Amino acid sequence: MSNSTEAELIHIFKGIRFTTRSSPELLKSLDAFDAREDDVLLVSYPKSGTHWLAGVITKLYNAQVTITSPIEFGDISKLEEMNNLSSKRIIPTHLDYNMLPQNFKNKKCKMIYICRNPKDTAVSMYHYYRDNPNLPTVDTWTAFFDLFLKGNVVCGSWFDHFLSWEAHEDDKNILFLFYEDMKKDLPKVVKKIALFLSLNISDKDIQDTCNKSSFSEMKNDTEKENSDPSHTVCALTSNRKLIFRKGKFLCAVGDWKNHFTPKQNRRFEEIFNEKMKLSKM
Ligand code: A3P
Repeated sequence: MSNSTEAELIHIFKGIRFTTRSSPELLKSLDAFDAREDDVLLVSYPKSGTHWLAGVITKLYNAQVTITSPIEFGDISKLEEMNNLSSKRIIPTHLDYNMLPQNFKNKKCKMIYICRNPKDTAVSMYHYYRDNPNLPTVDTWTAFFDLFLKGNVVCGSWFDHFLSWEAHEDDKNILFLFYEDMKKDLPKVVKKIALFLSLNISDKDIQDTCNKSSFSEMKNDTEKENSDPSHTVCALTSNRKLIFRKGKFLCAVGDWKNHFTPKQNRRFEEIFNEKMKLSKM
C-alpha cells in the first residue's frame, strides 16, 4: 500500500497513465532516441511474462548483451545512458505501438511482443498494484477490475495496447508470443525465438535455456542479483516477490477464476468481444 498520493505517483501523457518514474521530458523526447539495427525490443503490457521472456533471451545469447530498464523509464538522462552502452541492447518496453520511438520502426529492429490472457494479466496487475508502494493504492479487487476495464491503470487499456501491436503482426521484424504457449511447451517457443533472432543453437542449448528459465530458477537467481530497479526489466520495484508470484503453479494460467465473480466475467467478456471484434485473437 502506498503512502503517496495518486498525483505524486501518476501522470498522464497522450491519454495514457505513466508512473512519475517515467518523466514527461523523457516521454516527449523518445522520438530523438537513437535506435541501432541490432537492438532487440521486448514488448509487453505489464504482467504478461516480460521477465520470463527476458530471462530466456539473455540465456540464449552467449555473447555479452545488456538488458536495459524499460525505455520509457527514467528521466531525460536515459537517452545518453542508452547511447553509451557499447554491447548489444535488449530493450524492454510497455509502450503501445503508436508511442514507440520512430527510429526503431525505421531501422526495422527486431521486436518480440508477449501477450497473456488479459484476465490473468488483470489479476497479476492487481496484486502488483496492491503490494507496490510506487503505485496508487487500490482497496479491493472490485475497484481494480473497474480501473483495468476502463484503462485507468499504468500503460493504459490492455485492449488498446494489444490492438496497436496486433495491427503489425505481419511485419517481418515482429514476433508474437503467448505466455500460455510458454507454459505449455517452452522448448517449442524457445526454438521459435532462436530462429527469429537468427541464433544458431543446438537442442541441448534449448533444453538448458528452458531449465534455467524455470520459475524456481529465475526466482532464485534474481534474489541473488543486484536488484537496483533502474537496471532491471521491471523498474518499479526491487521486491522480486512482486514479480515472481504464482508463475510456478499451473494456476498462473487461469488464476482469474479465483478472483472474477460470474458477473465480472460476463462484463469482461462483453467488453472483450466489443473491443476485439476486429482482432484475430
Ligand atoms: P503472476 O502474478 O500471475 O504470478 P511481468 O514479468 O510481465 O511483470 O509478468 C509477471 C508474471 O509472470 C507473474 O505472474 C509471474 O509469476 C510470471 N512469471 C515470471 N517469471 C516466470 C517464469 N519463469 N515462469 C512462469 N511465469 C513467470
